Amino acid sequence: MTAPLEITGLTKVFNTPTGPFVAVKDVNATVRQSEFVCILGHSGCGKSTVLSIVAGLDTATYGGVVIDGKQVLAPGPERALVFQSPCLLPWLTARQNVQLAADRAENGAGRPKKIDAQAYLDLVGVGEDANRLPSELSLGTQQCVSLARALSVEPRFLLLDEPFSMLDSLTRFELQDTLLDVWEKHRRTVVMVTHDIDEALYLADRLILMTDGPEAGVGEILEVPFARPRNRAAVLAHPDYYACRRRVLDFLDHHAQQSRTTAIDDILRRTTPSPFRRS
Ligand SMILES: Nc1ncnc2c1ncn2[C@@H]1O[C@H](COP(=O)(O)OP(=O)(O)OP(=O)(O)O)[C@@H](O)[C@H]1O
Ligand SMILES: [Mg+2]
Repeated sequence: MTAPLEITGLTKVFNTPTGPFVAVKDVNATVRQSEFVCILGHSGCGKSTVLSIVAGLDTATYGGVVIDGKQVLAPGPERALVFQSPCLLPWLTARQNVQLAADRAENGAGRPKKIDAQAYLDLVGVGEDANRLPSELSLGTQQCVSLARALSVEPRFLLLDEPFSMLDSLTRFELQDTLLDVWEKHRRTVVMVTHDIDEALYLADRLILMTDGPEAGVGEILEVPFARPRNRAAVLAHPDYYACRRRVLDFLDHHAQQSRTTAIDDILRRTTPSPFRRS
């Protein structure tokens, strides 16, 4: 069976004032139906670049993304994206923000679906804030409204770019649990970018570990072995938890060292007379 979402040979070259910059090179990964996948890697390695190409907000230079056998070239209703910051329209209430997106959902025959925004606000636990403006809501609640907005279009793929990274750790834990509950209920396929190893191990079925850029790629793909449904205490107490964490840390550490060495080599190559160069 083919995977519903395939990233094949994805390469992105940005044109910069100093010449072409190959941010990611030959990224390959598949995401299975109803799977929860996290993409992890150091800052600047190209996680958002890959996710925005999956979302159809940007295009690959070579290779690309295929959904159900068709190449992704633009955004589509089967994919919804949640960013790091909530990005709500400030003059609309929470419910109106969600309803605006929900009204664009289609029933597959090109006709609009009747979707109740309130149901999605209730689903993510902020139903009581439906009539408030974003400025009256905490950042965590605003991010829940963003999640409700993304879910309200009933997408097959939920794409999340560090959705909790601006939140304090307690709010972050709460929203991770909310996301996990929603995922258990609806089993949408999730691709989430995060820097946080514990978050990734708690939420994901598999981790896609990216090497450092330039020319970043997929270094390793790890299966997360914890049974579902998950709860935080059981995951933390699992005998394999610290070994999994160590493996991800070692990967990231190794690649950070490699990119530091490459950067130092690069400077040495440009500034040091040849007899003193690193071999
Ligand atoms: N429009 C652009 N033009 C030139 N370079 C870009 C552009 N967008 C991204 N880059 C570069 O591509 C690389 C990958 O960027 P990207 O934002 O995808 O990284 P990231 O892994 O999401 O980082 P972070 O974890 O900090 O969000 C970075 O070196 C970035 O500077
Ligand atoms: Mg990013």
